[in-house]
Amino acid sequence: MTTILLRDVTESDLPIFFEQQLDPEATAMAAFPSRDRESFMLHWRKIMADESVILKTILFDGQVAGNIVCWETLSEREVGYWIGKEYWGKGIATKALAAFLVLVKTRPLFAHVAKHNIASQRVLEKCGFMFVGEDKYVNPRGGEVEEFVFKLGADESYRLSH
Ligand SMILES: CC(C)(COP(=O)(O)OP(=O)(O)OC[C@H]1O[C@@H](n2cnc3c(N)ncnc32)[C@H](O)[C@@H]1OP(=O)(O)O)[C@@H](O)C(=O)NCCC(=O)NCCS
Repeated sequence: MTTILLRDVTESDLPIFFEQQLDPEATAMAAFPSRDRESFMLHWRKIMADESVILKTILFDGQVAGNIVCWETLSEREVGYWIGKEYWGKGIATKALAAFLVLVKTRPLFAHVAKHNIASQRVLEKCGFMFVGEDKYVNPRGGEVEEFVFKLGADESYRLSH
């Protein structure tokens, strides 16, 4: 039987996460452009040093399959995840998010997902998140991304101030 484990992120995971976020199919799904090595490392060292950010490495049978992260915006706590392409379609994101939700008990918890990212929407739904609204944002390359907003916990309202 395969196992999914979450553990703290180590410096040696970063080159693997870097490669995983280079994949064009993955960046298209997430509607988020890949970072070059320098900005990727800068970003990860910054979030690893930030005590308000919770980061976990996802291990699949001991291999680094991806990461799952929770961070604060001005008004919300958000969750996001990224799985390396060779690990897709094995239920890893769903199991990793379910395990993460046991560790991170803050509610409500939000996720913003590109409208075309059906896989990620399924992951959220299977973990109990509810669709609560729509949003838009401009990604770092200047592309406007239409998103669905999902929420776990508290109630199903979504502040329309976004
Ligand atoms: C989205 C992502 C996290 C899914 O990871 P995963 O481990 O393959 O997901 P799971 O195996 O747990 O599958 C979850 C559901 O999505 C479905 N799914 C998987 N890939 C799919 C695809 N390409 N298109 C449609 N549905 C898909 C699965 O069938 C499953 O649904 P089901 O139980 O109804 O059959 C992964 O593809 C990824 O990291 N993509 C790039 C980054 C990204 O999009 N992150 C999320 C940003 S919000």
